[in-house]
Amino acid sequence: CERQDGRLCRQRLLVVANRLPVSAVRRGEDSWSLEISAGGLVSALLGVKEFEARWIGWAGVNVPDEIGQKALTKALAEKRCIPVFLDEEIVHQYYNGYCNNILWPLFHYLGLPQEDRLATTRSFQSQFAAYKKANQMFADVVNEHYEEGDVVWCHDYHLMFLPKCLKEYNSEMKVGWFLHTPFPSSEIHRTLPSRSELLHSVLAADLVGFHTYDYARHFVSACTRILGLEGTPEGVEDQGRLTRVAAFPIGIDSDRFIHALELPQVQDHIKELKERFKGRKVMLGVDRLDMIKGIPQKILAFEKFLEENTQWREKVVLLQIAVPTRTDVPEYQKLTSQVHEIVGRINGRFGTLTAVPIHHLDRSLDFHALCALYAVTDVALVTSLRDGMNLVSYEYVACQDAKKGVLILSEFAGAAQSLGAGAILVNPWNITEVAASIAQALNMSSEEREKRHKHNFSHVTTHTAQEWAETFVSELNDTVVEAQLRTRQ
Ligand code: G6P
Repeated sequence: CERQDGRLCRQRLLVVANRLPVSAVRRGEDSWSLEISAGGLVSALLGVKEFEARWIGWAGVNVPDEIGQKALTKALAEKRCIPVFLDEEIVHQYYNGYCNNILWPLFHYLGLPQEDRLATTRSFQSQFAAYKKANQMFADVVNEHYEEGDVVWCHDYHLMFLPKCLKEYNSEMKVGWFLHTPFPSSEIHRTLPSRSELLHSVLAADLVGFHTYDYARHFVSACTRILGLEGTPEGVEDQGRLTRVAAFPIGIDSDRFIHALELPQVQDHIKELKERFKGRKVMLGVDRLDMIKGIPQKILAFEKFLEENTQWREKVVLLQIAVPTRTDVPEYQKLTSQVHEIVGRINGRFGTLTAVPIHHLDRSLDFHALCALYAVTDVALVTSLRDGMNLVSYEYVACQDAKKGVLILSEFAGAAQSLGAGAILVNPWNITEVAASIAQALNMSSEEREKRHKHNFSHVTTHTAQEWAETFVSELNDTVVEAQLRTRQ
């Protein structure tokens, strides 16, 4: 469309995700401070700029009172964010329960938590009811802010019910849904008691997107095998209506990282870090403290490396940044203790009076400190047991143009399909193999590092978050136009 001043107006985009890009911290009855949220979804979406975007989502806190809700709504409006207020019980059943204790592990092939399996099965129905209720609450807020012509882009496994709720409000709404996690093999998906209802709800969208072709293929197989629908090269057809299904690999805002390296505060951090670790090779892990990230396996592989390569002891250090996440879910609490126990044991075993092999931090770092770490470290270890894409690997590559460090990357991360030619790919379950890849990375010639880095850097800087969003939205617009033409014929 064209505005009065002749400039093209940007399409309005309603981005709906469980988590807003900022999380709120209460400072007083009516005062709030906002912090950037963690996770790949947020870091990618922050790189999406060329749209008139509004965000709709949960601010990560329970706000039971009206004064607090009003003040938070106002504070978020400045960031173009619109809150969905979820009460404690809904958060417990929908977010901690159905989303993070059922869908998340299942979609990452980890199954249900072993000890809680029966309890989880029993509470399944109430959690699913809460999931649907929460999705309806998101739909109500979207509907309230929707204007004709808007594109509504729903994100992730929390909101699989949302496309259906939105289309029930208004069948003309342009609705896209994108999954940031893997979509598992249909044999895994079919174990979910609510398998069919979820698939049907997602199929109400006009366009359904995944990070990789494999995830898209698994989704189509689930629809054909479980629902008995027809899969076509374009997507899934149900009674003459086509839902387009395709792969849209996500990226990052690489310029943001590259430019940050020039900033004086980042340069200061870099200098400090170089001084601090002088004479040692530095390996880096940056993950949310999540069981899918394979942190215990990574640390055990590092231990094996130290056992087998005595000459490297005291000459190499692993910095593991583990950002706490979903701390109310028991599986995550258990993981934290497990990681602490392993780190303590290895530091006790290989540490000396002057040096410890593992620096483990249970917190996030600010953006500048993170860029500096990415820039100075020699090796990055991304050993996810499964991961939708994994953007830490992209961020590391973006910051390594000077040093040309080595990326060790799990073959079970979506990123293995895009950065596989430049990274050392590993099976994270095989700690002997990961230990060997650490030795390979530390001993790699500068020519080989340069060649590998060049491949990855060129991918990361050309496949950006902006390009990802533009491709998805334009495909969604086209899909809707094509569907209209088909119904007119
Ligand atoms: C993953 C999910 C996101 C989620 C993020 C952080 O990247 O795909 O949807 O926001 O983890 O998890 P949290 O539960 O803290 O939002």
